[in-house]
Amino acid sequence: VIFETSSAAAAALAGEVKALVETRQKEGRQVVLGLATGSTPVPFYRELIRLHREEGLSLRNVVTFNLDEYHGLAPTHPESYFRFMREQLFDHVDIPDENIHLPSGLVAVEEIFDHCHAYEEMIDAAGGIDFQILGIGRTGHIGFNEPGSSRDSLTRRITLDRITRQDAAGDFRGEENVPRFAITMGVGTILRARKIVLMAWGEGKAEVVARAVEGVVTEAVSASFLQEHGDARFVIDAPASREL
Ligand code: GLP
Repeated sequence: VIFETSSAAAAALAGEVKALVETRQKEGRQVVLGLATGSTPVPFYRELIRLHREEGLSLRNVVTFNLDEYHGLAPTHPESYFRFMREQLFDHVDIPDENIHLPSGLVAVEEIFDHCHAYEEMIDAAGGIDFQILGIGRTGHIGFNEPGSSRDSLTRRITLDRITRQDAAGDFRGEENVPRFAITMGVGTILRARKIVLMAWGEGKAEVVARAVEGVVTEAVSASFLQEHGDARFVIDAPASREL
């Protein structure tokens, strides 16, 4: 789906989430959202905050699972995804704290396996992800599923690709400060979501969007696995559609 601008796309998506949340509210049920970080979902979060403030949207029945976290960063670290999510969304809406889940950046190496397994189990116990939001990295990653991630991969620790670390260098004031590892949901975890929306804005994403949408399905571009999902959409702006 191609929108003229990212703000129009973000507004449409936020409206879709609002409708889902309010339908479930009437039924007395929760909604499980899978959330992403990076600059891409920011206009979407901003629009959710606006709907909360100006149109009475309550997110009290929302449960969230974030895709990933840098391994080695405390939740208080300025570049941690926990802090990002607080600043960009959680601090401004009424999602109960106990409904918010992110992988821990501080889990000890020997506990990673159990931690990741528990994360998968929490998603299952919540009933699975209803609506998964994604961005896309220049390596074609979703979450932090770098090239080589298998179709069936689950939540685990991965080594960040050089390109990914270069792209994050600005935020960390130098590539040498970017963590080398992250804990991420797997491709298999993501594909279990009932509905998936990948957002991409700007010409810088045009090439990777084309590879993911029109290229072969391959571990070399983990977003290409979305082609095999029954309800996955790429919601992009006009510049990101240039190579299609
Ligand atoms: C990071 C995140 C991804 C995100 C990507 C793109 O690698 N782990 O979830 O999609 O960055 O970031 P941006 O949206 O800033 O282009």
